[in-house]
Amino acid sequence: MKPIQVGLLGIGTVGSGTFNVLKRNQEEIKRRAGRSIEITMVADLDVARAQSLVGPGVQVVNDARAVIANPEIDIVIELIGGYGIAKALVMEAIAAGKHVVTANKALLAVHGTEIFAAASAKGVMVAFEAAVAGGIPIIKALREGLTANSIQWIAGIINGTTNFILSEMRDKGLDFDVVLKEAQRLGYAEADPTFDIEGVDAAHKVTLMSAIAFGIPVQFDKAYVEGITKLGAADIKYAEQLGYRIKLLGITKRTAQGIELRVHPSLVPTKRLIANVEGAMNAVVVQGDAVGTTLYYGKGAGSEPTASAVIADLVDITRLHTADPHHRVPHLAFQPDAMSDLAVLPMSEVVTSYYLRLRVADEAGVLAKVTGLLADAGISIDAVLQREADEIGGEGSTQTDVIILTHDTREGTLDGVLAQMQALPSVLAPITRIRKEELN
Ligand code: HSE
Repeated sequence: MKPIQVGLLGIGTVGSGTFNVLKRNQEEIKRRAGRSIEITMVADLDVARAQSLVGPGVQVVNDARAVIANPEIDIVIELIGGYGIAKALVMEAIAAGKHVVTANKALLAVHGTEIFAAASAKGVMVAFEAAVAGGIPIIKALREGLTANSIQWIAGIINGTTNFILSEMRDKGLDFDVVLKEAQRLGYAEADPTFDIEGVDAAHKVTLMSAIAFGIPVQFDKAYVEGITKLGAADIKYAEQLGYRIKLLGITKRTAQGIELRVHPSLVPTKRLIANVEGAMNAVVVQGDAVGTTLYYGKGAGSEPTASAVIADLVDITRLHTADPHHRVPHLAFQPDAMSDLAVLPMSEVVTSYYLRLRVADEAGVLAKVTGLLADAGISIDAVLQREADEIGGEGSTQTDVIILTHDTREGTLDGVLAQMQALPSVLAPITRIRKEELN
């Protein structure tokens, strides 16, 4: 059978990895797919560099639209990224009847509803395994492997840059700014790391997982997003003393009231496997009603790990592209006419537990006032840690840190209590609040 022909838009790190792995493993991939898969055309602004990467046998152009217009091309891989030209090209490829493979989480988390609807109307597939957690086949697991389950929650370390920074902060006792600079110098963080450190990249990924897990539309605009830029070495140290690690988690959960969709730093018990995922690695925990807890671990970025996911999509499409579109796996796991309208909850309605750190005057009655406010609001305390004043401000210090772990409460209730605590004259600095997830 004639090879399936693939056009690649953008040959950077992931594109060149895809080309190389496809070439290296072509015989095995053909035996699996039932047909050869060949990248026969590449579009890249730097034509000379692209040509040197793929060799003389592949046509290289600087105009992505020439790839889309080529009737021989069956599948278009979009690896340009961003919302702008990438969106136009994906929509044009769909309109031209091409299947699309993309690693573009930002595009799908924001414009997924429009893109999947256009693809369904045209009878083509849009595959995006590489968009979430790089080489970990988490889309496949959620959409197919766990299809028997009512998914209850997902919690993931789905941004390698921030996990690397948090690991370094913990290992070396350093503050965020210092580690970020070092990570940039070593190439672990980008020159503009905003999407990573502010939690936006993780929110794109958890938005996609949430849609697949619960059969809701992609709704990035409803996600609560908080990054790691305000975390201090002291909180990482205190968390450790209480038996927790701080991780940037993407969390989505089904509750009786609606869906939680949130990204923020979280204390996780050190005894959980996911708390021990260090460096740039990714991991996702999925809780299903039938299977229980499952854990997926691996590289969330990089040339060949991400290529592994891109090529898995190419093989899936090659196997299924002649099938009746109704017999394919739906883009978001649920049939398009059977999606749920469960609301995504505002953060004030989320129920979780908390780590609070208060810098207070070291004098009689302070702890009683603070804990009294929690008791009045019906918030139960799980643990309290108080440092010696000398340890905080040196010998003779009159200030100390009080750390309180709470049991579960509504975030809106805690917000009210924090405002009252902050107004106490003996609370001397802005209160630090970090959410805590037991993940049991
Ligand atoms: N920048 C991401 C990370 C990889 O640090 O994990 C691509 O999503």
